[in-house]
Formats: sequence, structure tokens, C-alpha cells
Amino acid sequence: MMDRIIEEVKEILKEEMLFESTGHDYWHVLRVYNNALLLIKEESQTHQVNEDVIRLAALLHDIGDYKITGSETEEIEKPIAILNQLRVDKKIIEQVVQIIGEISFRKQKNKLSSIESQIVQDADRLDAIGAIGIARAFAYGGAKNREIWNPNDPPKKNMSKEEYINNKGNTINHFYEKLLLLKDQMNTKTAKKIAVRRHQFMEMFLQQFYAEWNGDR
Ligand code: ADP
Ligand code: NI
Repeated sequence: MMDRIIEEVKEILKEEMLFESTGHDYWHVLRVYNNALLLIKEESQTHQVNEDVIRLAALLHDIGDYKITGSETEEIEKPIAILNQLRVDKKIIEQVVQIIGEISFRKQKNKLSSIESQIVQDADRLDAIGAIGIARAFAYGGAKNREIWNPNDPPKKNMSKEEYINNKGNTINHFYEKLLLLKDQMNTKTAKKIAVRRHQFMEMFLQQFYAEWNGDR
């Protein structure tokens, strides 16, 4: 039953998100889903987790993103509409919506309400770091006509939420404003472990980037 619903959700996502250019495309969602499955496998050895809720939330976490829809309310309404259409149990819908509403980096909720939320947030964040995270950051910057780097525009420390949302800076700055912070913000043991190598890779990338920028031969 749930497997069929998952397949139907994937089809809907494929239609709506395949060529999205700000980092929320279909392939991102699929990677987050796979990260979530891996985290479920590890974390369910020590925690009781609702697998169905996690799988649905992972798939639907960006379908209503305000960057795609331009609307804050659709963040919740879009997934609700899809789940209702597929006749998913009301209780499950409620939990999925709760997760989607609280996991985004932008909102920086201090305390997530469940292990399910923690897992989906980690799955999403793992896809924002490492080689894939680097690729997504520059894809996003390109879609927004941003410079890759500008030494005259160094990163800001401790940006407020407002500053973060309205920030139009170069893409290398995004590493200091978000990507390099994520390693220490993972919720689960498993994600913390996976994040270590991905984080190191970003640091190596930056080192090499500056070396080349400064004329390294
Ligand atoms: P989330 O969906 O986790 O809230 P975002 O919507 O903030 O993440 O970002 C989606 C993708 O775009 C991520 O890979 C993120 O790193 C990247 N991104 C977001 N803002 C910027 C930016 N200002 N510069 C470069 N990349 C960005
Ligand atoms: Ni996402």
C-alpha cells in the first residue's frame, strides 16, 4: 500500500520538479529520500521511527518551497493536496506536514518535535554538503546570476534570518554562511558520521579554490 503511494508521489514530483534550477529539483528529492532510507536503517536500531511518515516527508519536503511556488502557504498546502488526492491517512498527513513545516534551514527551529523530523532534516542537510553540496551551491548561484567569488565581498558572520534570506552575495560566501555550519548541526549519530568526510571535502575544495585564484601553478 505505502509502496504504491510512494511510487505515485515520485511520478508527481518528476512532472513538477525535474527542471527546477534553484537546487530543489527531482534528483535532489530522490537523494534526500535515499539518505532518509539509510538513516532509518541505522537509527531504527536504537529508536522507534515511523518509516512511512519519514519517506513521505522526505519526498514532499520541497514541493511547496517558497523559492518554487513564491508562496509561504503553499509550503504546506501543496503536500497536503497531493496526500489527500492519494487518500493517505489523515494522521500520517498531519505528521508529514509538521515535519515539512519545521525542518528548513531558513526557519532555524531550535527544537524539532520528533525523531522523524530529525531524520528528514539530516537527510536534506547531507545533500547540501560535500561534492553534491558544492555542485548545488554553484548551480543555485548561477540560476540567481551571482558571482562565484568576489574578494571584495567577504562573508558576513552571524547573519540574521532576514539578512540570510535577502542575501545576494557570491557563492563562496554561502559556504561560510551555511554549508560549513551544517556538520555540527546534524541531529542523528549516523548523519554526524557521514557529514565528517563531506565537510573535509568542502574544506579541501576551498583551499584549492583560493590557491588557484591566487595564481597557484
Ligand atoms: P533547504 O531546502 O534545505 O532549506 P535551501 O532552499 O536554502 O535549502 O537551498 C537549496 C540549495 O541551494 C542548497 O544546496 C543550498 O546550499 C543552495 N543555496 C541556497 N542559498 C544559496 C546561496 N545564497 N548561494 C548558493 N547556494 C545557495
Ligand atoms: Ni531540500
